[in-house]
Amino acid sequence: MSNTEGAHSFPDMIRQKRDGGQLSTEEIHAFVQGVKSATIQESQIGAMLMAIWQKGMVPEETLALTQEMMMSGEVFHWPEEWAGLVVDKHSTGGVGDKVSLPLAPALAACGCKVPMISGHGLAHTGGTLDKLESIPGFTINQPVEQVKQILQDVGCCIVGQTEAIVPADRVLYTLRDATATVESLPLITASIISKKGAEGLNALVVDVKFGRAAFYKDLNSARALAKSLVTVGNRLGINTGAVLSRMDAPIGRCVGNTVEVSEALECLKGRGPDDLNELITSLGGYLLWMSGRSATLESGQNAISNVLRNGMALQKFQAMLEAQGVPAPVARSLCSDQTDYFQHMRPANYQTELTASDEGTVLDIDGMAIALVLHKLGAGRSKAGQPINHSVGAELLIDLGKKIKKGQPWIRIHHDCTTLSPQLHSDLQKALLIGSGDSDQASSRVTEFILPH
Ligand code: URA
Repeated sequence: MSNTEGAHSFPDMIRQKRDGGQLSTEEIHAFVQGVKSATIQESQIGAMLMAIWQKGMVPEETLALTQEMMMSGEVFHWPEEWAGLVVDKHSTGGVGDKVSLPLAPALAACGCKVPMISGHGLAHTGGTLDKLESIPGFTINQPVEQVKQILQDVGCCIVGQTEAIVPADRVLYTLRDATATVESLPLITASIISKKGAEGLNALVVDVKFGRAAFYKDLNSARALAKSLVTVGNRLGINTGAVLSRMDAPIGRCVGNTVEVSEALECLKGRGPDDLNELITSLGGYLLWMSGRSATLESGQNAISNVLRNGMALQKFQAMLEAQGVPAPVARSLCSDQTDYFQHMRPANYQTELTASDEGTVLDIDGMAIALVLHKLGAGRSKAGQPINHSVGAELLIDLGKKIKKGQPWIRIHHDCTTLSPQLHSDLQKALLIGSGDSDQASSRVTEFILPH
């Protein structure tokens, strides 16, 4: 271990940031190289992260940090004939967020190349990879040559991050977790955009969620993050836009890995819930517009809607499943019009329905409360790498803003333990708000588009 990288002294750099100064591009380069090569001590990295957390960074510093992190590992280069076509979306995470599953094949059906690199879930949020791993045979680890082949043949794939992509983020993220420095605008921006930059994207849309079940609870903080991501993404040469979307009630009617896959498949068969369809068409339409494949945002949204209705996105999804290891008869059956999804994905041992204790209008459904109960039942992990139970989940049997009668079943819980404890029952019942008047949650989820600038 050394205290310097070239001409740069780490204690001096930490002091400079701690006292509110600005780091030069060369100093940020030295810091990231020190992180990557482990020539800087963990205590020094932690101190620097805390200094950044407290003093922030000016846009130039955030851009330099993002660029240096991106260059700390492998950067994908795609065939020239794909120029302008390579797109992806990133979501800051929510409850019931299965948008990526129909979105990637819908974009592929519209002619895009989608090398979607996703993650496993942590805490209350589900991960796209966990959902896909509910499908027998689905393989998330694909070498880059195979990713290229799948993009050539199918147009989309959904894979895990390789060791080679942005190795500096791996170190920094672990230490941010350990030093209470996760919630920092420049650090979040650099972490997200460096990984997307390494994917060699032409266009990116970020779904920044706000609300009770989101990382950011209020709209203003979510908007600040969205603007930071859009600014840095565009300055890095990725056509980047963002959507601000409400994350209070679960997205769609299903929460939990296996049940969310079945809902995503229903959506690909043209039978998705309205709010899920809205998110997919908004994010997909935005990408088609930004990448120049649609003349307007509206025509982009219509193109995505069409491929969800006419089966073209479903065909791409089936091809992607087969290309990523799902046996062809299973992929075919999952994608056939009438199928029992639980024939292929293990169902939970028990299902319990809860009933409404009152009558009136469904004013609110607390997605966070439901996610916490499912987490206790084994659906989520508390630390990276923990095994999870893919079969645990919840299905909502009611809709926001609609009438409900006393005694009417409103939620079905899929669980492997023999009974739900009185505490879990009570936590779930508190998630349902019944009253009079209208629900302010029943309107559009997408509240704002942040344009590339
Ligand atoms: N997601 C990331 O990849 N990094 C962050 O810092 C936060 C969310």
